[in-house]
Amino acid sequence: QIEYFITNYTNGDITDYQAAALIMAIYINGMDEDEITDLTLAMANSGDILNLSELGIVVDKHSTGGIGDKVTLILAPIIASLRIPVAKMSGRGLGYTGGTADKLESIPGYNVVLEEKEFIQNVKEIGISLITQTANLAPADKKIYALRDSINCVVSIPLIASSIMSKKIASGADKIVLDVTYGSGAFMKREEDAFALAEEMVTIGKNAGRQMHTLITDMDQPLGYAIGNALEVKEAIATLNGSGPEDFTELVLALGSRMLIAGKKAEDVASAEKMLRQSIQNGDALRKLEAFVKAQGGTGEEVSHPEKLPAASMQIAVPSPQSGYISHIQCDEIGVCSLLLGGGRETKDSVIDLSVGLELKKKVGDYVEKGETLAVLHANDQEKAGQAEERFLRAYRFSETQPPKRPMIFGEI
Ligand code: URA
Repeated sequence: QIEYFITNYTNGDITDYQAAALIMAIYINGMDEDEITDLTLAMANSGDILNLSELGIVVDKHSTGGIGDKVTLILAPIIASLRIPVAKMSGRGLGYTGGTADKLESIPGYNVVLEEKEFIQNVKEIGISLITQTANLAPADKKIYALRDSINCVVSIPLIASSIMSKKIASGADKIVLDVTYGSGAFMKREEDAFALAEEMVTIGKNAGRQMHTLITDMDQPLGYAIGNALEVKEAIATLNGSGPEDFTELVLALGSRMLIAGKKAEDVASAEKMLRQSIQNGDALRKLEAFVKAQGGTGEEVSHPEKLPAASMQIAVPSPQSGYISHIQCDEIGVCSLLLGGGRETKDSVIDLSVGLELKKKVGDYVEKGETLAVLHANDQEKAGQAEERFLRAYRFSETQPPKRPMIFGEI
């Protein structure tokens, strides 16, 4: 029955209104283990299943999403520089969450749409290619995701798990590292839900014969300081130059070490982290970034001259309304600010402004004096900047005492 639904919804014989009824029933009632696995496999089989076996051990990585998440931009060249092939398909942002494909497009000339053959050829030649999903990769997910978005049925463990895992299975890697985010900027706002989602995806992956490594990580405030496409590429380049934000570097090392262990390049986390740091320190990862940008149509010059990336015409400092410690940042609201500035899509067809976004100056736990800068808005439109500033200030909360530090990693499966 599940296969029948997926086949006929993908080919258009089942209508959106019929599918919406089923999706909402799943959203309300959940699914059992077998149903989720069957749904995932039917969605994966709705299009091509890539065969990457000629590339050797390929380790894929996927995050359940968040704000300021530029991990792939750094991790992919590091991993490729350590001789694990990276053949990765990344999504575009939708709503307030960012997508790696959009971030890459802020590099002038970079082409995220390659034919499957060229994609695999690039991986063979330079060890890495990053593109956006091909049209025929899990097409059922594309339709169901858009439908879920339009009927507000996105946040559901069976639907998220099947959506992500169908794409991972179809994109061909047999070892998968997942970053399941939890907090105010993630789909999972409660720790127990993040663990349940992680367990679910691990079970599906194992049932489909994939080797799974999963971390449950913090997304209660933006990752790093930059939010917005070109701004995040700049921060990624800074990180590959060894001057990345602490939280962000910690997450890159944690996920990267699991990828090296899965790819049989390291025995344990400590030795893997050493290799990852070395790849940053000796410049290999930065050179790999330059190489794959060139292979995909860019000049690569932004890697040594990030000031050549698109820049907004206005930089507006947002002063703190009071003194105190930052006790909380409502992370999804920061994503909305970037969207209001023009950095995200309101609908799937919106054209985004790659240059806009936010550069945070203060994060949770920092002390701020009244009038000191909390963030700089990068904007091209005064009115949009005004709306974003108002929203931004509502996302910050203050306290007289320093709040306890949240861990970056909450668990591992
Ligand atoms: N990412 C996906 O690909 N699908 C979801 O449902 C949520 C996050």
